[in-house]
Amino acid sequence: MDKLFIFDTTLRDGEQVPGCQLNTVEKIQVARALEGLGVDVIEAGFPVSSPGDFHSVVEISKAVTWPTICALTRAVEKDIDAAAEALKYAKKGRIHTGIGTSDYHIRHKFNSNQEEILERAVAATKYAKRLVEDVEFYCEDAGRTDNAYLARVVEAVIKAGATVVNIPDTTGYCLPDEYGAKIKYLMEHVPNVHQAILSTHCHNDLGMATANTVQGVLNGARQVEVTINGIGERAGNTSLEEIAMIFKSHKEREIVTNINTTKIYGISRMVSSLMNMPVQPNKAVVGRNAFAHSSGIHQDGVLKNRESYEIMDPKDIGIDDNAIVLTARSGRAALKHRLSMLGVEMDQEKLDKVYQEFLKLADRKKDINDDDVLMLVGKDRTEMHRIKLEHLQVTSGIGLQSMASVCLNMAGVRRCEAAAGNGPVDAGIKAVKKAISNSDMTIQEFLIQAISKGSDDTGKVHMQVEYNGSIYYGFSANTDIIAASVEAFVDAINKFIV
Ligand code: KIV
Ligand code: ZN
Repeated sequence: MDKLFIFDTTLRDGEQVPGCQLNTVEKIQVARALEGLGVDVIEAGFPVSSPGDFHSVVEISKAVTWPTICALTRAVEKDIDAAAEALKYAKKGRIHTGIGTSDYHIRHKFNSNQEEILERAVAATKYAKRLVEDVEFYCEDAGRTDNAYLARVVEAVIKAGATVVNIPDTTGYCLPDEYGAKIKYLMEHVPNVHQAILSTHCHNDLGMATANTVQGVLNGARQVEVTINGIGERAGNTSLEEIAMIFKSHKEREIVTNINTTKIYGISRMVSSLMNMPVQPNKAVVGRNAFAHSSGIHQDGVLKNRESYEIMDPKDIGIDDNAIVLTARSGRAALKHRLSMLGVEMDQEKLDKVYQEFLKLADRKKDINDDDVLMLVGKDRTEMHRIKLEHLQVTSGIGLQSMASVCLNMAGVRRCEAAAGNGPVDAGIKAVKKAISNSDMTIQEFLIQAISKGSDDTGKVHMQVEYNGSIYYGFSANTDIIAASVEAFVDAINKFIV
């Protein structure tokens, strides 16, 4: 069996997605869950990019013990210095530096040539190596880089001290046979390749990220860069759970990972909830329908023998059919147990708070499911808001003019307004705009989604609001979808009204 190192970049490539930004406390929560999942490396951020990112890398380094903590840089000394500084508390720290190697990057981005880029690659690796032992080099856009030149860069950075060389398909352009052949070419043409590990880093623009990653591994790569739920720039990155389950299911490939797959479901839901990023229902491994058999023939087959139609046991990814359903009669212990199954640990004070919210929700909704529970955990995110929605009342109906009245608490000052609209949401949002005396924002995207089923279900609302040429993201969840919509609008405006 060959060990495959799992490098998780949910907190860097994943977190770069507009609307998915986490604060440091949330990042630590995800990092701890990744540690529990058994990942080998956590890419914690890009320290030079902002003080917030720098701080998160520092705090994650303190909070996590076993995985290597990695920080991203460009091939620029000030980036590398910032990364080394941010990693100073890491038990095991890695600098991930690199530069574009395709002609697109060399000519158009850097207005340079291959020899100059090779020199910069070597210089950055040597510079980072003086600060930390573990240096990973990325050849950005390797997917579209000529293989002979790529082999020269890989050889040179290994000679300069790189311990891992990352071969990203940055644009998601490659087909599986091409990407596999690229890794094979490097394994066969780079004389010192066995002094380092080759890593895959695939994007999903053509839906090939997982297939390309598998081909990379089958041809010699021994590290994969992945994210939970496949989140990441544009169409996303390779998803961790797919790779872990592929090699667990295909033992004949003799590749093992350190992933405790029974923790996959919990962390998938946690990341989706913290980042307000829904998981598509038919997503492989973690989608709501991944194990739902709807056709009669399938249901019959599964009841006779699960393996007739299921290649994975839902329990292997942490879905427990027998999990206790939470209701208004469930106590703190049951809630705590459910949270811990979902990878969320909290102190008694926070548990008490979440429990109070849980009881309120359980009064309105019969069964509380995992998404509800995670939504409750994130509820205190609005505590810091300067503008809070304290009151909302709407009237609407067929043949009626919709009306809404709202009261906002604006940094301690209560403002109430009413407005008419072409529906209750429109009326509510117009009333909020009146209360804040600002109507310059427009809603660009507005998504209402039920968490599970039933007319008493919680509705999740994602909203994108444009203001002054920038986009701000709002989210809320409520059993009343009109309230959730107005709350999501208020959440978004809190991001720019100071
Ligand atoms: O996609 C990419 O090329 C990257 C690098 C910065 C590693 O994310
Ligand atoms: Zn990437």
